[in-house]
Amino acid sequence: MITAVYPGSFDPCTNGHLDIIIRSSKIFDKLIVAVLSNSGKTPVFSVDERMEFLRIVTKKLPNVEIDSFSGLLAEYTKACGASVIIKGLRAVSDFEYEFQMSLINTKLNPKVETLFMTASTHNMYLSSSLVKEIAVLGGALDGMVPEEIQSSIYDKLRR
Ligand code: PNS
Repeated sequence: MITAVYPGSFDPCTNGHLDIIIRSSKIFDKLIVAVLSNSGKTPVFSVDERMEFLRIVTKKLPNVEIDSFSGLLAEYTKACGASVIIKGLRAVSDFEYEFQMSLINTKLNPKVETLFMTASTHNMYLSSSLVKEIAVLGGALDGMVPEEIQSSIYDKLRR
């Protein structure tokens, strides 16, 4: 049984995240989507809100579990018995940092491999930061975040 972890801030989850979740859930027996709870960044949505969004959008995916973690990702992967870390790549500019992180994570947990999955072309431009900015300014989020969570994102962000 191979367990993979897809870690991130998910502040909030976008269609880009959901696409990576759906595609990787087809490859692994179990996929844990792990929300970072002690990020250096100050998130707009609480850990509970971010986890609830992820639960809503993955409710039809039986092998996907939503969790949160703090501290080192490498330690978290050891604790949950995961052998793979999934990272989504949107552009070459994502790669350098992600490459460094993958080397560090394997140094800290030699049993874990990082698998990079390229974003689908229609999601290449998406980011949680842009989604938040658009919502604050009252723009349409259609096609950017899953429909089921759009109104909750607006409720919190729209001025
Ligand atoms: O969605 P993000 O913000 O790009 O996700 C970043 C994340 C959560 C994957 C990354 O910050 C992370 O792994 N943080 C945990 C701390 C850690 O293990 N850092 C790497 C070793 S210094």
